[in-house]
Amino acid sequence: MKVKKFFTLEDVIPPTNKKEAEEFFLRLFGNKNPIVVEIGSGNGHFLVEYSMMNPHLNFIGTEILGGRARKFYSKIEKRNLQNIAVFKGDSRIFIWEFLYEEMVKEFIALFPDPWPKKRHHKHRLLKEGFIRMLTIRLQKGGYISIATDHEEYRDWIIEEFKKVDQLKPVYKEGYSSYPESYPSSLFLERFKEYGRKIYFMRYKKP
Ligand SMILES: C[S@@+](CC[C@H](N)C(=O)[O-])C[C@H]1O[C@@H](n2cnc3c(N)ncnc32)[C@H](O)[C@@H]1O
Repeated sequence: MKVKKFFTLEDVIPPTNKKEAEEFFLRLFGNKNPIVVEIGSGNGHFLVEYSMMNPHLNFIGTEILGGRARKFYSKIEKRNLQNIAVFKGDSRIFIWEFLYEEMVKEFIALFPDPWPKKRHHKHRLLKEGFIRMLTIRLQKGGYISIATDHEEYRDWIIEEFKKVDQLKPVYKEGYSSYPESYPSSLFLERFKEYGRKIYFMRYKKP
């Protein structure tokens, strides 16, 4: 049975082991190509472009807000793309419930909400526990890639990654500029308009 390329936790019973998970993604995409997961895709601007540039990879975008997830899916439908799907829901649930050990080639989080107020830091996504979760799901040689315009969140993220020994920073300084190989995202466009500096961090699981 084929799986629809827009799904939520209510539509699909998550796989209960790695073999079932591999079968699920085989049904979803029709092939066993490597999987890339985006965390907080918004309207899918970035991932739709990126999936067209990389037909040899399979992409799953996760977005918690229904309106944004549906706009994202309509882009996929309009272009009849086969190598990209949307999970509408919390990316942490998707990553833990649908994926198993070493199944992901790359995690990408572009402009995760910075929650600038100190009392809201607890809502930040890229903290140690979540990074450990991503590391378990990541293949050897896989990457976690993050962009932010928020200097304090950048430094906070760098400190959280330092707590996870299995990952190595790709950039000596901890960050670089937004990669040329990446298409733009809605928030990148917005921040560029405001003249904000963009920081890009990447970590590898050796
Ligand atoms: C600042 S926006 C960036 C959107 C997009 N990545 C871009 O660059 O244009 C952050 C997005 O993450 C989504 N988000 C926040 N927490 C999430 C979670 N736990 N799971 C999935 N999406 C989440 C928000 O709804 C929002 O669309």
